Amino acid sequence: MALEKFLEQDNDTILKQDRDVIESNIAKALEADRNGRKGYFIDSSLEKYKTFVTNPYNSYQDMVEEKLRQNGKCRVLEIGCGNGYAAHEIVEMFGNDVDYHVLNISEPDYRKGINWVEADMDRFISNSTYDIIFSANGIIYGHNDYLNFFKFANALGDHGLFVFNFDWTNAIGVEKHNRFYDFMECQLLDALYASGMSGYCENAMGRRIYLGRKDTKRPLNPEKILNMARKLSHDKRSSYVSRFGEDQKWISYGRSWTSGLRNLYNIGTAG
Ligand SMILES: C[S@@+](CC[C@H](N)C(=O)[O-])C[C@H]1O[C@@H](n2cnc3c(N)ncnc32)[C@H](O)[C@@H]1O
Repeated sequence: MALEKFLEQDNDTILKQDRDVIESNIAKALEADRNGRKGYFIDSSLEKYKTFVTNPYNSYQDMVEEKLRQNGKCRVLEIGCGNGYAAHEIVEMFGNDVDYHVLNISEPDYRKGINWVEADMDRFISNSTYDIIFSANGIIYGHNDYLNFFKFANALGDHGLFVFNFDWTNAIGVEKHNRFYDFMECQLLDALYASGMSGYCENAMGRRIYLGRKDTKRPLNPEKILNMARKLSHDKRSSYVSRFGEDQKWISYGRSWTSGLRNLYNIGTAG
């Protein structure tokens, strides 16, 4: 189901959560974690996390460093941290200046200095704001990607960064209400931009990575943004350019793109 089909549905269908399915997904994830996280590919190290970060950053720690430079401290939320090794490396590297929270079905193995705030991302409600929300092969295990996108984006502090990959490997058979794959396209990015959330997607050799920054203090309104994306899609308008041809709508500036994020944000909006 691509964006057009996704947008053809009514708002209620898109925004619906399904509690029973979420319970069953949690049971599957718990079972996988109990069995040594069998089925997943787990290697939560900073070295591996490099491949989940996109331009203009070279690494996960780059983003943390930037926030520390800007704010003097950095509050991070990692969704689906696996054994927690990368989290542990960040905390070791930056010490108390980083307040590191994780969401993971089971308690991470490496947990010194790490705050395991809740098991399930679908039921999580944030009562704090984050400078960085990051997920490597984690947020894709949520039930309703559309709702989760907005929930986490709205948990960002001023100029907070949201980075996650959404190439889909359903290793444990979770049931999805909808997927990033179906809506992370040009018109949604435009609609987000118009509401103060700048960002883009990269197709890094098959890995789809989203990088966004929330430059508004106002909460993003999913319904309003959905309706705007619907209108842009209907009018076949988008300010973003795809480098992948007409029917490949992923946006990529490639690893060779050297301008800063600021320039990407200046691309403008449709409308
Ligand atoms: C494929 S692993 C990725 C782990 C780590 N980020 C890495 O790249 O090595 C997925 C992780 O997501 C977590 N997870 C699965 N479903 C979840 C849910 N509903 N809420 C929170 N975490 C979840 C699992 O506990 C697991 O640690």
